[in-house]
Amino acid sequence: MSLLKQTEFKKVSRPDKTHRKPRIGVSAPSPEPLSANRIIHGDCLAALAQIPGGSIDLVFADPPYNLQLAGDLLRPNDTRVDGVDQAWDKFASFAEYDQFSRAWLAEVQRVLKPNGALWVIGSDHNIFRVGAALQDLGFWIQNDVVWRKTNPMPNFRGKRFTNAHETMIWAARDQKAKPTFNYEAMKAFNDDLQMRSDWLIPICSGPERLRDDGGRKAHPTQKPEALLHRVILSSSKPGDVVLDPFFGTGTTGAVAKRLGRQWIGIERDADYVAAATERIGRVVALGPDALETARSKRSEPRVAFGQIIELGILEPGTKLWDERGRVWAEVRADGTLLLATAAATKRARDSTQQSGSIHRLGAEVQGKTACNGWTFWHFQVDGMLKPIDVLRDQAKRQLGIRHS
Ligand SMILES: C[S@@+](CC[C@H](N)C(=O)[O-])C[C@H]1O[C@@H](n2cnc3c(N)ncnc32)[C@H](O)[C@@H]1O
Repeated sequence: MSLLKQTEFKKVSRPDKTHRKPRIGVSAPSPEPLSANRIIHGDCLAALAQIPGGSIDLVFADPPYNLQLAGDLLRPNDTRVDGVDQAWDKFASFAEYDQFSRAWLAEVQRVLKPNGALWVIGSDHNIFRVGAALQDLGFWIQNDVVWRKTNPMPNFRGKRFTNAHETMIWAARDQKAKPTFNYEAMKAFNDDLQMRSDWLIPICSGPERLRDDGGRKAHPTQKPEALLHRVILSSSKPGDVVLDPFFGTGTTGAVAKRLGRQWIGIERDADYVAAATERIGRVVALGPDALETARSKRSEPRVAFGQIIELGILEPGTKLWDERGRVWAEVRADGTLLLATAAATKRARDSTQQSGSIHRLGAEVQGKTACNGWTFWHFQVDGMLKPIDVLRDQAKRQLGIRHS
């Protein structure tokens, strides 16, 4: 009989919630072809073993924190703080927690595509242990990102600093991997400033917080959608498969669906599965226009200067100048430039190099070893000099690489 129940928005039966000792090295049946947009109801080690190797683009994991809480935490008015005291968060020792971490991380590494990546979130209770385990396995850390909470829970006893952040580790599958990073999109998101590694985001509250019929939190550690929005937007593409092996109430699935990604969740608790199923069913995916992310120039196909001539955007014989109009050269049919010696600088006159690519000749006339010819050389339009770089967009539109 299968160890797993797979559900596609179906109510499922209630499982035994006592913490079972993690089954390390579960012997798995041979994996089936990947099927996405579903919750796998079961233990993550057994469920991961059924996912084909190299099939997942991005993993977001919010594992048990192993909080080791000793007794109730009370507010100054003696009310009990609704913390995490569930069986799923309890481990007998650090050694058992480490063994469990290494087991699920190894499975995650197996299911990731060669350029896939993992985000894992944790607190001081577990993140250092998880970080060491993932480095030992060969994951390659890209960043650690601090989620700074705008509205953290106070430190009621006044014995320590207010714990106001959690840490996320973003790691590539291995050192060779080139994980997706939507740099330009993140910069545009951040008002044209590079996105930093400290994110100020409120904890999940208000209508976003799922509650049961009695008004109690459906899950003690439901993460804010804003956090997942930034994670998924920054490091995946529309259509990618995002997997969360500790799905809880399905925050990852809800955001992934909204952002046009495919998703797979694994969760052991039937109540959480039911809450996530209902929640994701309500999510409406955004359309392709809303999902188009700003792309870096580097990720677009290159346009060579020769294509600017080939496409008739500049005619052979056109004159190009440096920014101040002191040096000029003529464009040739093959995309090289011929320096106009009469106007050339002394350095260029003395040199043997009188023609070459926009980059080579640009460097030559400045006496440098390298030059970006696209920004050095200018063409004249309406009596003004403009860098030839602006012609690349026109070429991309003509070539159908970019839409205006
Ligand atoms: C920290 S919570 C994740 C909360 C989730 N990010 C959300 O926003 O709702 C961890 C979840 O992992 C589940 N879990 C713990 N151990 C598991 C295991 N071995 N296999 C599958 N799920 C597990 C717990 O039931 C819990 O819902």
